[in-house]
Amino acid sequence: MNDLRIEARPTPRPGPGELLVEVRSVGVCGSDVHYYQHGRIGRYVVEQPLVLGHEASGVVVAAGPGADASRVGERVAIEPGIPCGRCTRCRTGHYNLCPDVRFFATPPIDGAFARYVAINQDFAYPVPDTLDDDEAALIEPLSVGLWASWRAGIRGGERVLVTGAGPIGLVAVQVARALGAAEVIVTDLNRRRLGLAADLGATSVIDLTRESVPADLGADILLECSGAPQALVDGIRALAAAGTAVAVGMGPAADAVVPLQLIQNREIVLTGTFRYANTYPKAIALAAAGRIQLRSLVTGRYDLDHTEEALTAGSSDPSAVKAVVHPQQR
Ligand SMILES: NC(=O)c1ccc[n+]([C@@H]2O[C@H](COP(=O)([O-])OP(=O)(O)OC[C@H]3O[C@@H](n4cnc5c(N)ncnc54)[C@H](O)[C@@H]3O)[C@@H](O)[C@H]2O)c1
Ligand SMILES: [Zn+2]
Ligand SMILES: [Zn+2]
Repeated sequence: MNDLRIEARPTPRPGPGELLVEVRSVGVCGSDVHYYQHGRIGRYVVEQPLVLGHEASGVVVAAGPGADASRVGERVAIEPGIPCGRCTRCRTGHYNLCPDVRFFATPPIDGAFARYVAINQDFAYPVPDTLDDDEAALIEPLSVGLWASWRAGIRGGERVLVTGAGPIGLVAVQVARALGAAEVIVTDLNRRRLGLAADLGATSVIDLTRESVPADLGADILLECSGAPQALVDGIRALAAAGTAVAVGMGPAADAVVPLQLIQNREIVLTGTFRYANTYPKAIALAAAGRIQLRSLVTGRYDLDHTEEALTAGSSDPSAVKAVVHPQQR
């Protein structure tokens, strides 16, 4: 724990159907910070040196056997989880729930704070030059927000409550607006993040250090993006009858108490989300169309030698939102 080393390792050789990608930008995620500081997340325990980083973009530099060599030179966003493709979950379209998924930076699978990674060619998605390398990396967290909004069934005209204005909440706000939500109300305790939420399309913000979420808010949809158990409870209470609550945030507690009677009386639908499936092309299209601003989330850029600073930026600076590492720079 709290032991980070920059090591020389052989460049990976792309296997059958894989592309070798020169990594250009990698976002720092809360899970990277957690593995670095605590050495585990739930049942995933770091037992041997682990390369962190799963929000990555880069340029294709080589193709393995059977992979499309014409893609060399292409700029790509990397979807960091490769499902087995054979199990029932995979075959029924729920590949994000594959029990055998190999996900970057989840022990024992190495991630992308590296100069090169090899990736199955179907999980490296072309990005247009209108998106820079950092934006292409942040297609990963954008996918989390897009999936949550799809699961919530946002179709247009809704009043949406987003609890938590971290990177995930800030993309969720924008996706909700892009999909047509009429109102997006955002809560947090961090005033700067709430200011950013307002800049990015929130129609109103609630600073929880001064006020609470009104129980009669009558929201159609809750996107819980803080991981705070109280935010889930207060958010469900703020839903109108027949509303939908989506638990995106993962808190330290495995179990949480929910207002069951209210869920029952108001026929509220409650679901969680686990990563995302089939989001990348749509997320790239939304960002490329200018409907989602990803660049304004980036508050720090670091070269590979300063990856440790990138991992600790969030704990030391309350105005930090998203740090990115540029592994080609030393
Ligand atoms: N479901 C998934 O697949 C998935 C994927 C990625 C991240 N996550 C989870 O989403 C959550 C958000 O990720 P992030 O990177 O934005 O994290 P973050 O920690 O940067 O942001 C969380 C925000 O919530 C705020 N907050 C804390 N308590 C609150 C409360 N009671 N009400 C409202 N806001 C509150 C914090 O001030 C912070 O700004 C995390 O729990 C993360 O683990 C889930
Ligand atoms: Zn992440
Ligand atoms: Zn599978």
